[in-house]
Amino acid sequence: MESGRSQASPHVLIFPLPIQGPVNAMLKLAELCATSGLKVSFLNSEYNHNRLVRFANIHSRFGKYPGFEFRTISDGLPRDHPRSGSRFMEIFEAMNLRTKPLLKDMLVEISPPVDCIIGDGILGFVLDVANELGIPIINCCTIGACYLWSNYSIPDMIEAGELPIKGSEDMDRPITAVPGMEKFLRCRDLPSFCRASNMSDSTLLRYGTVTRKSLTACGLILNTFEELEGPILSQIRTKCPNIYTIGPLNEHFKIRLSPENEVSSQSSNCFWEVDRNCMSWLDKQPNQSVVYVSFGSIAVMSDEQILEFWHGLVNSKKRFLWVVRPNSVAGKGFQGEDTPVELVEGTKERGYIVGWAPQEDVLGHQAVGGFLTHSGWNSTMESIVAGVPMLCWPYFADQQLNSRFVGEVWKLGIDMKDACDRKIIEKMVNDLMVERRDEFVKSAAEMARLAKACVTVGGPSYCNFDRLIEDIKSISL
Ligand code: UDX
Repeated sequence: MESGRSQASPHVLIFPLPIQGPVNAMLKLAELCATSGLKVSFLNSEYNHNRLVRFANIHSRFGKYPGFEFRTISDGLPRDHPRSGSRFMEIFEAMNLRTKPLLKDMLVEISPPVDCIIGDGILGFVLDVANELGIPIINCCTIGACYLWSNYSIPDMIEAGELPIKGSEDMDRPITAVPGMEKFLRCRDLPSFCRASNMSDSTLLRYGTVTRKSLTACGLILNTFEELEGPILSQIRTKCPNIYTIGPLNEHFKIRLSPENEVSSQSSNCFWEVDRNCMSWLDKQPNQSVVYVSFGSIAVMSDEQILEFWHGLVNSKKRFLWVVRPNSVAGKGFQGEDTPVELVEGTKERGYIVGWAPQEDVLGHQAVGGFLTHSGWNSTMESIVAGVPMLCWPYFADQQLNSRFVGEVWKLGIDMKDACDRKIIEKMVNDLMVERRDEFVKSAAEMARLAKACVTVGGPSYCNFDRLIEDIKSISL
């Protein structure tokens, strides 16, 4: 049956949450869709698009795909807004208010018409607009199934009297109202927004409602894999049966786009200039001796926190490669004149600091033996498939939950949440790299093997992507 929208190549509009991790992942998804014969419009915030043009050479990289177009839209924030740290959350209200009507206008006018939207499940308004205009929508979540499910369960936690959290003394109380997580979930592992002491039931409920709504889309794409999150995926399937697990997406991308296509994992969909000199530094370090340190694209740390981490790393006597993103330190800033001399010396001897690293390559380098991470979902997946054990210091949002899964469920590392003390950091780095190294290396190697099997030809993630493309093609008929 002709829908009036139909054309030779179905037209899919892909719209990520405007953050580095989700944009990186959904641009990979977009490229996979383009190589599968879809016409792709990639919709990015103007702010991030300009950064990709500047640092990721996107026009020449994507020019080879016929019909691939980059489109831009305002994220609703003024240009000089920091879009990081605690002020990041302002983007949600701004997008709801200002981006939503612009998106609707764009979809009404766009030519050829859009057959299917792949929207970031966190941007609830995309689903509203799609439904209003009668355009099929598949949600893509670049977060873990565990986070999605914990948010889905917020109304149940409120009903059971387990939320809101009653202050800092309440943090270790067990949470039992999230099916599948009863044995290990505590208040402190819940998404960070649950911590606000003035959080009312109705604000909390709103988070749950958006998540529940996101599961009413035609389907749900997740950057995860069955062996990692099978039990939680089974829970989600009772609410949304049509799930496409296609992760780990970065590995999946490499498998499908062969080197002949001159696409490499560092094709770098980065918002900052990548400093590749660290790779030569890594080449000179012994195998598995280096701790890679990165806190992602949004975390902003205080001078005190940076100093604690720096002392902890230097005192651990381990080699380290540390990403200190521009503007990621509040206060006086990093490496000021009054930096203690032992830190400067210790870094000269065993450390290397960059503004932005080719992370996937770094994690795949033989010299890297551990990852001190903020537990963003994309970093977590990249570390898992590279078989690198993690020391987790979650900053906000889903990270508190991801780190609990890393430490307690998957046993792939240590969860250091809510501690920022040089002695603890030193001890935990040593636990990761020496004391408990064997147990972590063993479980990380096994999980990496399972992850890779999922994305090889015939594996579940590989087949799910083929099914996704077939389903999008059939939607447009
Ligand atoms: C955000 C949220 O912080 C996170 O909680 C959520 O799970 C996803 O969205 P972000 O801070 O961008 O994520 O972290 P993450 O999801 O880990 O993604 C960071 C991306 O940047 C990764 O793909 C990583 O490879 C890349 N990166 C990071 C680099 O390429 N170089 C670096 O130096 C650091």
